[in-house]
This record gives sequence, structure tokens and C-alpha cells, in this order.
Amino acid sequence: MQKLVIASGNKGKLRELAALLEPLDYQVHTQSELNVPDVAETGTTFVENAIIKARHAAEITGLPAVADDSGIEVDALDGAPGVYSARFSAPDATDEKNNALLVEKLRNVPEAERTARYRAVIVYMRHAKDPSPIICEGSWEGRIVLEPRGEGGFGYDPYFYLDTHHCTSAELTAEQKNAISHRGQALKQLVSRLNTDHV
Ligand code: IMP
Repeated sequence: MQKLVIASGNKGKLRELAALLEPLDYQVHTQSELNVPDVAETGTTFVENAIIKARHAAEITGLPAVADDSGIEVDALDGAPGVYSARFSAPDATDEKNNALLVEKLRNVPEAERTARYRAVIVYMRHAKDPSPIICEGSWEGRIVLEPRGEGGFGYDPYFYLDTHHCTSAELTAEQKNAISHRGQALKQLVSRLNTDHV
């Protein structure tokens, strides 16, 4: 069975990615299992950062690598925090601190203007020097609420309200979230391309 490394240290993302990759004929390893240290995300776009992470993991392990870079874009904040979502409040941010800062910045913004979207880019690199990585994208529309709701998901989920489901993304089950989320959309594309492209 072909081995594959997932280039992420984020437990929430690893859980979602591993579940979505399960139907494929790959033996999936996380980068921490293979002693791959984190790499600095120096890009200014999701695509750049995803490639940096996948290339790094492929280089160190010699295996094909999948990396996800994702974040939340808030329209009233001109798209911030965007690629800086994980480090919004500080370089050593926590979900709690990031969410507190988000709420503080949006406290005086009317509900109808608190529109936002999650974005995810997932790349697959056959090897570290792969000149044409498979690049897949997903986006998911929502609205930021000022009071948290729900225990599921991770990151900004308790504050990401879905008009389509009348709840936050933290109130969805893992299966419901994976079926419609930005990451789920991108990964579904990847699964279909891995099945049809020459990889
Ligand atoms: P990175 O892709 O590791 O740079 O981090 C992405 C960051 O965006 C996460 O740490 C979260 O703060 C946020 N994020 C991305 N996807 C989600 C999601 O599905 N739910 C909640 N927060 C997310």
C-alpha cells in the first residue's frame, strides 16, 4: 500500500483529513509520527503555505505529502485574519485568544455585516521536487456571532454561524461538517483527482 504523509500538526485538522482520506488506498501517516518538525509558514497566500508545508514533509520523509492551509476571511476586517488565522492574536496564539480578539474587533459591527468564509487549499506533492502539485480549493460561507455555540470542531467553529443550518459549525457532527466544509470540499476534489490523474 502506498504511504502518504499528512503535513500538519493541528489535531483538529488531522482528525478531519484522516477521516476524509480513509476510503483511499493509502497508508496515512502524520508528520509527527515521522518526526517531521513544523516549518515556518512564510507565504502570504494559502497556496504558498500549503506548498511550503507539503514540500518540507516530502523532503524529510521521502513520501508523497498532503498539506492543508486554511483560515477564515472576515469581510468587515478586509479579509483578516486570512492566512494569519492560526496566529491572529499572537505568534503563540490559542483558539480562545484568537476568538476573543475576533469578538472584540466585531463587537460594534452589525450582525448583517459580519459575513465571513472559511477557505482551504489542499495540495498533494508526489515528491519534494514535484513541479506540478495537485492543488484543490474549497470555501464555506458563514457569519460571525458574538456568543459561542457548540462543542465540536476546533478554532473559530463556535463563532461561525451557518444560515443554511441555523447553527454554528461547532454544533455540527464531525460527519456533517466534513460533508460540507471548506476542507471537505477541497479534499473531495483531491480524492477524485488522485483517482483519475496520473499520480
Ligand atoms: P493553518 O492552516 O495551520 O495555518 O491554520 C489555519 C487556522 O485557521 C486554524 O488554526 C484555525 O484557527 C482556522 N481554521 C481553519 N479551518 C478551520 C475550521 O474548519 N474550523 C475552525 N477554524 C478553522
